[in-house]
Amino acid sequence: MEETAGPHLIEFRHIIDPRGALTPIEAERDVPFPIRRVYFIYDVCHGAVRAGHSHKALQQILIAVSGSFTVHLDDGRTRQSFLLSRPNIGLYVPRMFWRDIDNFSGGAVCLALASDHYEESDYYRDYEAFLRAKGLR
Ligand code: TYD
Repeated sequence: MEETAGPHLIEFRHIIDPRGALTPIEAERDVPFPIRRVYFIYDVCHGAVRAGHSHKALQQILIAVSGSFTVHLDDGRTRQSFLLSRPNIGLYVPRMFWRDIDNFSGGAVCLALASDHYEESDYYRDYEAFLRAKGLR
């Protein structure tokens, strides 16, 4: 997997035995970057929309480890939507893609594996500023 790859789904291993299922994820093996941060979004209020930003350099993978939600990705020209509903499927989100996350089911948990520590200066939180940075305004 290359750093320049576009958004795509990654199917992780799904190890099933009579006790249930287990999905391992190893940095730089199952995901194309060193994982420097993990966070998760949960207890989402009904109808809430999360994210609403782009990252300048950070790449990440989003996983519906419980429940489901929809991730909308926008490179300033086209918009793609992905319904995530399986704990062994991750969505790779490259740098410089605006993302919104909505349509959370009850009990949904969004796990994020990020390539960098939290750094507010890595965010575009204004869509027009994002478009200007892409040279589209
Ligand atoms: P925000 O970026 O608005 O979350 P979302 O992407 O789900 O919309 O972050 C909410 C708050 O949490 C904001 O004050 C920044 C803070 N935060 C951290 O301190 N560390 C983190 O790793 C993240 C993702 C957010």
